[in-house]
Amino acid sequence: MRHTMVGVRSAGTELEAKGPDLGRTTGYAAVLSVRGLSVRYGRSVRALEDVDVEVPEDGVLAVLGGNGAGKSTLLRAVSGTLKLHRGAITAGEISFDGERLDRLDPAVVVRHGVVAVPEGRQVFARMSVEENLRAGGLGARSAASRTSSRDRVRELFPVLAERAGQRAGLLSGGEQQMLAIGRALMSDPRLLLLDEPSLGLAPQMVGRIARIIREIHDQGTAVVLVEQNATMALQVADHAVVLEVGRIALSGPAVELAASDDVQRLYLGGHAESQAQADAEEAQARAHRGRRTLSRWAG
Ligand SMILES: Nc1ncnc2c1ncn2[C@@H]1O[C@H](COP(=O)(O)OP(=O)(O)OP(=O)(O)O)[C@@H](O)[C@H]1O
Ligand SMILES: [Mg+2]
Repeated sequence: MRHTMVGVRSAGTELEAKGPDLGRTTGYAAVLSVRGLSVRYGRSVRALEDVDVEVPEDGVLAVLGGNGAGKSTLLRAVSGTLKLHRGAITAGEISFDGERLDRLDPAVVVRHGVVAVPEGRQVFARMSVEENLRAGGLGARSAASRTSSRDRVRELFPVLAERAGQRAGLLSGGEQQMLAIGRALMSDPRLLLLDEPSLGLAPQMVGRIARIIREIHDQGTAVVLVEQNATMALQVADHAVVLEVGRIALSGPAVELAASDDVQRLYLGGHAESQAQADAEEAQARAHRGRRTLSRWAG
């Protein structure tokens, strides 16, 4: 584990206070660097405020947070797709491998090696599995890389090879998620952005997706994994951030976040001795934090 940073804004946990070095790692360059990012939709919706995130070349970063916290917005900002949702960056910058991404069109971002799998398993339902994969390969840098990506996807997802001729819309939810990830891998990304890949899947399938994400990472692709399933995400990731109403509330190595009382109580349903105690602690924390309410994540 190469990560050195630990940061947290809420008081009273064993994690350190967020300092100016948030997200900095030592000894190597981050492949993705997000600095002071603020995003709005239209004039009034502030979806992200002053967000700092870094992902090292061989890292998996988990982005946790409740509904509306800004997780998808962060991925949209990185993949250059905010405009499609009437969103815009109002401050900060995003760079990948030292180059600015934040003014580029989505297709150019893909050519830089950053590929997103958006929320909701968006496969081309009427096209075959094979055609879906071929469509993903259109972004490949060369015919050789397309062939090696095809082999990689076959190995990672044997089920997709078995169903090559079948219409994608007929696949199960888990298989469609695999196809969506496989299609993204066809362009041989250096950074894969996954938005809630476990959503709506049975536990066994969640486990399979988790192992596949780890394998993709072991093969040398950095991953940003947005998840509401904190248990799964913290097992897969090296590093994690918690978004809370558009701001980074917690960040640190995944093992440390998984062990922190705040994350245990709010995301993993553990540690507190009784529900009454948990409720009391939460009320106290809420009062302490003023406007920021964590309660909607409890459970
Ligand atoms: N296209 C849009 N137009 C206006 N507001 C939007 C738009 N997309 C998102 N928002 C708002 O921006 C905020 C962040 O939304 P976002 O979708 O990034 O959250 P999220 O963490 O991905 O939530 P979820 O877990 O429900 O997917 C929310 O308040 C949401 O209502
Ligand atoms: Mg989302």
